[in-house]
Amino acid sequence: MMKLWLSLLFVVCLSAVSGSDSNRKPNIVFIFGDDYGFNDIGYHGSQIATPNLDKLASDGVRLENYYVQPLCTPSRSQMMSGRYQVRSFFAPWLVQSPDVVSVTFLQQYTLCLSMLPLSPFYNNTPCPLFLYLAYQSVHGPLQVPEKYEKQYRHIQDENRRIYAGMVSVLDEGVGNLTQALKDKGLWDNTVLVFSTGIPFNISRGTPSKRTVLLHNIDPLQTKHGVPLYNDTFHTTVRAAVRVGHMKLITGEPYNGSWVPPPGSAHKFEPDQRRPHQNVWLFNITADPTEHHDLSDHMPDMVRTLLGYLQRFNKTAVPTRFPPLDKRSNPALHGGVWGPWE
Ligand SMILES: *[C@@H]1O[C@H](CO)[C@@H](O)[C@H](O)[C@H]1NC(C)=O
Ligand SMILES: *[C@@H]1O[C@H](CO)[C@@H](O)[C@H](O)[C@H]1NC(C)=O
Ligand SMILES: *[C@@H]1O[C@H](CO)[C@@H](O)[C@H](O)[C@H]1NC(C)=O
Ligand SMILES: *[C@@H]1O[C@H](CO)[C@@H](O)[C@H](O)[C@H]1NC(C)=O
Ligand SMILES: *[C@@H]1O[C@H](CO)[C@@H](O)[C@H](O)[C@H]1NC(C)=O
Ligand SMILES: *[C@@H]1O[C@H](CO)[C@@H](O)[C@H](O)[C@H]1NC(C)=O
Repeated sequence: MMKLWLSLLFVVCLSAVSGSDSNRKPNIVFIFGDDYGFNDIGYHGSQIATPNLDKLASDGVRLENYYVQPLCTPSRSQMMSGRYQVRSFFAPWLVQSPDVVSVTFLQQYTLCLSMLPLSPFYNNTPCPLFLYLAYQSVHGPLQVPEKYEKQYRHIQDENRRIYAGMVSVLDEGVGNLTQALKDKGLWDNTVLVFSTGIPFNISRGTPSKRTVLLHNIDPLQTKHGVPLYNDTFHTTVRAAVRVGHMKLITGEPYNGSWVPPPGSAHKFEPDQRRPHQNVWLFNITADPTEHHDLSDHMPDMVRTLLGYLQRFNKTAVPTRFPPLDKRSNPALHGGVWGPWE
């Protein structure tokens, strides 16, 4: 069902902690790219050059099989709260409010919300640094200084060309930040994470213990079809869950066509779902691009996964989707997003 989840990138760089530094808590630098796609990083074979991110990836831990939310606010709310969306107060989709910082590290870590260029950087302080760098890049609108676009002259599609330039700016920014940490002597005691979503439980060389992942339950989306069963999760509601190899999707998929990544050999495939169909089951290990719906062949598996959704749904907090508050306009607050009341 053919939905390309955006943004599946993740890199952790663990530098060795040595000598007199060994008792010090590490600095933590968390960089969040926005709406940045799996096929848009150099080491995934992209036509977009990302030498700095590639270097971090080759020196660090790469997580190649995890999901993030397809939009910016939900990804950030999960990162900030450490909770699934259904358990936080953020509505499932885009929320027009700033990130709310509520991080439990606060007692231990200096919180430093910073934008490039890096201004006062802590050095020789007993207090470790926690830097959360949430880029708006490479989210639309598509805009980039010409010099970054120029290197992609060979890309015909204008949107793609500008986007590629934006990725290069992001990559350069990450390179500058890394260099600044090195220049200040902070690098060797720093854990740097680059992600477009929220990771949990990272360890080098061992499989994740996590086998169940809730993508989302979104009761605000239009209901679709009729419920498949009458005693479990309503398949009319938009939701998705991954359990081991299997992923179940329910509800209204909207545009269910399969859109290949730019420059790939795959073909565009139009929406082939049956009218009113509201359940799909995929074996992600065997079929990572979600082409072969198994829901008709494995009804017991469908029911088992619906049971997971039902249990997650029981722990959901009520959805809150307040109207836009004009007082939040950054123009009223010195040109930046921030708490406004
Ligand atoms: C990176 O640093 C260079 C040199 O200071 C600067 O010219 C450039 O604008 C910086 N790039 C970004 C994306 O911040
Ligand atoms: C991380 O792993 C530990 C040990 O397996 C587990 O207790 C904990 O719940 C996990 N945390 C998350 C966020 O998955
Ligand atoms: C659910 O469906 C079964 C089988 O069709 C039926 O016997 C049962 O009464 C239904 N339960 C409810 C609560 O509607
Ligand atoms: C989720 O739980 C709520 C509250 O119990 C219930 O009203 C709703 O029907 C459930 N949603 C689904 C899709 O089963
Ligand atoms: C779905 O999206 C594709 C690619 O953007 C587009 O070509 C197609 O017309 C859309 N289909 C529908 C039914 O909107
Ligand atoms: C899913 O695919 C994998 C890899 O082909 C296979 O090992 C596994 O048994 C399949 N799982 C199910 C439930 O079909």
